[in-house]
Amino acid sequence: MMDTKSPLEKILSPAERRRSIAVDHQRRSVRLIRDGETDRSDGPMTNDPAVYVDADWARVERKAIFTEMPLLAGFGVDIPEAGDKLLFEATGVPILVVRAGDGRVNAFLNMCTHRAAKLVTECTRSKKMTCRFHAWTFDLEGMLTGMPAKESFAGIAKADRGLIRVPVVEWAGMIFVKPRPGDDEIDIEAFLADFAPEVAQLEFERMRLVKATRLEIDANWKYALDTYGEAYHFNSLHPSSIGSTHYTDRMCYDDFNPHHRIAYPYKHVGAYIGRSESEWPDEPFNAVHLLFPNVILNVWQIDAGPAYSIYRLFPGETPDKAFALTATYRPDTADPDVDDQPWIDLHDYIEEVVTTEDYSVSADGQRNLAHAPADFRVVYGSNEIAIQNFHRRLAAYIDAERAR
Ligand code: FES
Ligand SMILES: [Fe+2]
Repeated sequence: MMDTKSPLEKILSPAERRRSIAVDHQRRSVRLIRDGETDRSDGPMTNDPAVYVDADWARVERKAIFTEMPLLAGFGVDIPEAGDKLLFEATGVPILVVRAGDGRVNAFLNMCTHRAAKLVTECTRSKKMTCRFHAWTFDLEGMLTGMPAKESFAGIAKADRGLIRVPVVEWAGMIFVKPRPGDDEIDIEAFLADFAPEVAQLEFERMRLVKATRLEIDANWKYALDTYGEAYHFNSLHPSSIGSTHYTDRMCYDDFNPHHRIAYPYKHVGAYIGRSESEWPDEPFNAVHLLFPNVILNVWQIDAGPAYSIYRLFPGETPDKAFALTATYRPDTADPDVDDQPWIDLHDYIEEVVTTEDYSVSADGQRNLAHAPADFRVVYGSNEIAIQNFHRRLAAYIDAERAR
């Protein structure tokens, strides 16, 4: 995208920025609803079901996408103090992320360098990490500091037996890792490019976790992910939930290749058609962000305040299995007297809807794709532009990996 922002816009506070985007979405939504239109691509696109069912595709994807791409491992606020830890095991590679004494984050394979036992099994706050097998001890920089009966390891230098580093970066309150050994730097701003300010303005440094869940999905991770990328299904699949509160088949789509942001207009916005903008009430910032490849960052407004729903989708053991790590955060600036219950209720409500509706339809579709004729192709309409772009871009990564 071209940078069309004025210098003044660039110095807006995050809250002012969110506000100006909400106004932009409101204007565009009113136009789309009035015209019976949606943001769309030039035309339909077909796709080979192999991307959802083929084991070789899944193997290449695991390498190109789930090993070599920066993945969201968690949030800085999850590990605020020195010695705090989080485990990120969703790709199958056990990763340990720790907050070091100087405030930085370090990430390691969660593997003791004696005989590879899992080093941290419970995330308590501590300056030392002691392996439960033979009690080798490591500090927060991964240095081996304790080695019982060290006379039995003559010639083995402690300095050579530090924990094995994994690339990690903390940026705008988010912690990204590449789940493989290495100490190369993750250039997250290059990866996010012009999506970076759109993510930074969400102020993840200022929220706190309310509830987290893991959901098993009987479908490919992309089949489930696709359900977040269009409003075409709202009324038919979700008549009593999002279909009753939001317009079907209307969306404002902002592309930040390969990432995107979507605003799905609420039904009350239709009442602004034909009224002067000065009469429109303030519309709070609501948006669904795709942080490529596998993260949905959803910002809602509930009566108690803003809510952040995070869904991270990961492939399962086979192409027809996946799981979602879901989490709901509330701003820590919200009135502390307001208890967490409204956010917990939101978490449970969304979980119910996605499980019984989105992931359920995904499981049926996945099963059918496995039995479709060889020449069958799924088709994404021009109103499914976000899904089209996602699959086109994913395929480019897969092609590049195969060409290597
Ligand atoms: S495997 Fe960790 S101390 Fe032996
Ligand atoms: Fe849905």
